[in-house]
Amino acid sequence: MNDPARGEQARTVAIIMDGNGRWAAKRDLPVAEGHREGTRALRRTVEAAIDLGLETLVVYAFSTENWSRPEGEVDSLMDIFGETIERELPDLVRQGVRTRFIGRRDRASAELGAQMRRLEEETASNDRLNLWVALDYGGRAELVEAARRLVEAGIEPAEIDENILRDNLYAPELPDPDLLIRTSGELRISNFLLWQLAYSELVFVDTLWPDFGHAELEQALAAYAGRRRRYGGR
Ligand code: IPE
Ligand code: IPE
Ligand code: MG
Repeated sequence: MNDPARGEQARTVAIIMDGNGRWAAKRDLPVAEGHREGTRALRRTVEAAIDLGLETLVVYAFSTENWSRPEGEVDSLMDIFGETIERELPDLVRQGVRTRFIGRRDRASAELGAQMRRLEEETASNDRLNLWVALDYGGRAELVEAARRLVEAGIEPAEIDENILRDNLYAPELPDPDLLIRTSGELRISNFLLWQLAYSELVFVDTLWPDFGHAELEQALAAYAGRRRRYGGR
């Protein structure tokens, strides 16, 4: 191929899992049922990611702004996160999925925090797929936290460069996504991975998140393979 940048397989894929509320509303179901169905879609998508040879999958589960939703919805979401960790932990271990979280750790309940840590610990030696779950995550909060860490470490202004900033993000080892997918037809970033998405390819699909699965991921990867990344160059 003349153009080595085109036709490559995406290795790191980020997904804004949006549309659970509309999926439930269309069926006259409570919003929590949409979120519950969303966890099934995540399970399918993780299996698809393994099948399609991805190295890293990073998914947006709950934003720093999602706390502003009605209390009942936030409560049911937190319950669903805990239930989902319990339900999926054995299969994630068995499937070789190393699972980690990014985001604030100080606002979820102590019980959910412990479940998150247990999932991270029990999958720590897996290396088939890296799954990162953004929970109580905001891109702006992440950058503010990085700035705070630099000041606390006494870094001199002249020492600050892109590498040092990256090293102080929640997860410096998380690669920049090759591809960002957002479901449900919304065309925005909603405070996800502001630093890491600088040169990611974007794919927006109308599918609501609970309806997403192998075929939709494969289609998005095919769209990515037809793109030519330029990084500002010629
Ligand atoms: C995404 O689905 C899940 C979260 C934000 C937690 P939504 O709940 O935002 O679904 P819509 O956008 O209302 O359809
Ligand atoms: C983004 O979706 C957050 C998650 C998918 C977790 P939202 O539904 O919260 O985003 P907006 O409000 O439509 O921008
Ligand atoms: Mg939404």
